[in-house]
Amino acid sequence: MELRELPKVLRSVLTGVGGYLPERVVTNDELAQIVDTSDEWIRERTGIARRHRAAEGEATSDLAVAAASKALAAAGRTAADVDLIIVATTTPDLTFPATAAIVQRKLGAPIGIAFDVQAVCSGFVYALSVADGLVAAGRSKCALVIGAEVMSSLLDWTDRGTCVLFGDGAGAVVVEPREGEGTTADRGLLGFALRCDGTKQDLLYADGGPSSNRQVGLLRMLGNQVFRHAVVNISEAISAAATDAGVAVADVDWFVPHQANLRILQGVAHRCGIDEVKVVTTVAEHANTSAASIPLALDAAVADGRVQPGQLLLLEAMGGGLTWGACVIRF
Ligand code: UT7
Repeated sequence: MELRELPKVLRSVLTGVGGYLPERVVTNDELAQIVDTSDEWIRERTGIARRHRAAEGEATSDLAVAAASKALAAAGRTAADVDLIIVATTTPDLTFPATAAIVQRKLGAPIGIAFDVQAVCSGFVYALSVADGLVAAGRSKCALVIGAEVMSSLLDWTDRGTCVLFGDGAGAVVVEPREGEGTTADRGLLGFALRCDGTKQDLLYADGGPSSNRQVGLLRMLGNQVFRHAVVNISEAISAAATDAGVAVADVDWFVPHQANLRILQGVAHRCGIDEVKVVTTVAEHANTSAASIPLALDAAVADGRVQPGQLLLLEAMGGGLTWGACVIRF
């Protein structure tokens, strides 16, 4: 009798990455003309030098489509192949339908699954983990996971404590199933850890919403309190994600963190024993683009040749909720 081979493990492999930044660049000096701040303060406290701002009429879905098109081209796929779209965003085009549905229409992708994930700055890590659940279960052959934000639309331009910190942009990855051996040598998403502590809502939130006051609201943050939680929380999630993946943090080739503040990502790297040369930083050029910041940073590191197929990546983020999380991927 012929023995049938046991089915191997399905892994969710990142096959293409793309990013998009709006054309307009806003410098710290420009912001110093509208609020009481300075280039020196912003650089020293955050590492931010400039950020991009979406043009009038440029919506989150437009940024998402631009990034997704590049990711599809990098993967050698077209919109016709896409059967799942997840957009992580805090700044949807409309309250509904989901921005993912608008992206599907604008891309010309066929009928499939499309929805948004709302976990604020942690959105991309959350969305990737959700996509993994579908891709690794064989329910999607070609998924787009996109982080896209027009954060400038949520900012209070009279609040110097927040308006200098954020930028607009989008990043996308194509995720496809590939057979693996079930070992840490497999390409794909190997492990993750997601967290939320809803009792910390008041530290970072928007003061509006359809069912509370029928408004969009503006971003409110107690920055120094969020800062205090960040390093400790993120470090714990990193350790849990590494354990889930079965790897040691020391084995990671590239650390691709959420880009909120240079001091936070350096603090996390230090606490987790990650060498500074392995840290991908784009915060100086992009500022905090919320759910877009990780895929934008990944895109930058893939584009300049730092990140190579087969390397081990560690992603982490923290944002409103409070939410936070980390994931380990063999690229
Ligand atoms: O991605 C979502 C997660 N968000 C974050 O991770 C953000 C976390 N927080 C941070 O990155 C930092 O807390 C900030 C960059 C927001 C602030 O830095 P800080 O070192 O924690 O400053 P602070 O909030 O304790 O404020 C220190 C001083 C205050 O003045 P006084 O009270 O000491 O007179 C602020 O009013 O700095 C003042 N300040 C500013 N000064 C000039 C706050 N914002 C500004 C500004 N320019 N833009």
